Amino acid sequence: MKILTHKLTVTTALVSTLMFAAVTAHAQPQAEVLHYWTSGGEAKAVQALKEDFEANGGKWIDAPVAGGGGDAQAAVLRSRVLSGNPPAAVQIKGPNIHEWAATGALGDLNAVGAAEGWDNVLPPLLQDIVKYDGKYVAVPVNIHRVDWIWANPEVLAKVDAEPPRTWDEFNAIADKLLAAGITPLAHGGQPWQDATIFETVALGLGGAEFFNKAFVEKDPETLKSDTMKKVFDQMRKMRGYVDADFPGRDWNLATGMVMRGEAAMQIMGDWAKGEFVAAGKKPGVDFLCLSTPSNGGYILNSDSFAMFKVTSADDNAGQELLARLILGEKFQETFNLYKGSIPARMGVATDKFDECAVKSMIDLQASSESGELVGSVAHEIAAAGAIRGAVLDVVTEHFNSDMTSEAAVERLAEAIELAE
Ligand code: GAL
Repeated sequence: MKILTHKLTVTTALVSTLMFAAVTAHAQPQAEVLHYWTSGGEAKAVQALKEDFEANGGKWIDAPVAGGGGDAQAAVLRSRVLSGNPPAAVQIKGPNIHEWAATGALGDLNAVGAAEGWDNVLPPLLQDIVKYDGKYVAVPVNIHRVDWIWANPEVLAKVDAEPPRTWDEFNAIADKLLAAGITPLAHGGQPWQDATIFETVALGLGGAEFFNKAFVEKDPETLKSDTMKKVFDQMRKMRGYVDADFPGRDWNLATGMVMRGEAAMQIMGDWAKGEFVAAGKKPGVDFLCLSTPSNGGYILNSDSFAMFKVTSADDNAGQELLARLILGEKFQETFNLYKGSIPARMGVATDKFDECAVKSMIDLQASSESGELVGSVAHEIAAAGAIRGAVLDVVTEHFNSDMTSEAAVERLAEAIELAE
């Protein structure tokens, strides 16, 4: 059976490659690209993709939707698809890729994947994200780490602070900063940003097994556990460490506060490093990248581009070109140096990557071996859609009220159960 299937499969792949080549040979590659990369570092990274695409004969049609975290972009995507006018390429992540693939809305990138040997250059955990029914339906562009503290060394020195190894040490530093009249935590009051902090605390206090039991298996006992109460206790403390103007602030403006020394630290994924780098700041000198306190944990986020089914040969040619370029070795280096992430592609030269990126690479390897590697909830890897929504709703309600931790765990378990 396997042999037959294999032979059949080979012929089909060959035919579609040839057809793809025939169709695209005479086409003018073009692609409308829907994304939400509008901050300083993000814009530089997506500009690199645009330039690479244009340098290879493509016509780039930019469709940015401002709003970190991507919720606004997701709403635009839904309405575009519902109105029968999907963009050719869309920045997308995690289970959302499978959800769209299940609707039949995504094109098949298997021909490009086979021609480019993606199976040999993509780690299995990313292949699982971008393959549906064994076929490539999206192409990953990076690996972002979520559980980082970005700190201003000069500000920390004002209270003789050493990088915190535990959340108790983090709180002790923050209390000293408060006493010195310094804002300990630069933060933007938006649900996805609140949830970004929340998941770093959950991993730090509970570990990967607890994290996955709560947010992947959605185990009610774990959601209502004493450990989860401690997580909300820590979130209550964090609420006391932000400035009065935090509500609604965009994440990159909070990064700017750390950059200018108006606050000591920010907890955010390494897209924040893209802001520091875009401003010419040096790691270890102008800013510090510290993993949030945990037992060797690592919270993974990964951006991909999915190609929606489109009819014109020009769009198809554009999608094929874009997919090929995104996982190209050179582009993987260029893009991720701007973006603050590390390459999705294995084997990319690391000599140009800074100490934060190298730490991310080492910690990713170590955490996948130790079992402390988890997917982000706030950034739609371990959970998406309604489950993620339930976590964001309860976490942000707790952060912006005097809700007790006891009430919060009940609300969280209830909201997740309702979302299932
Ligand atoms: C994440 C996305 C990152 C970064 C961040 C802030 O969801 O995966 O690439 O852009 O939002 O907008």
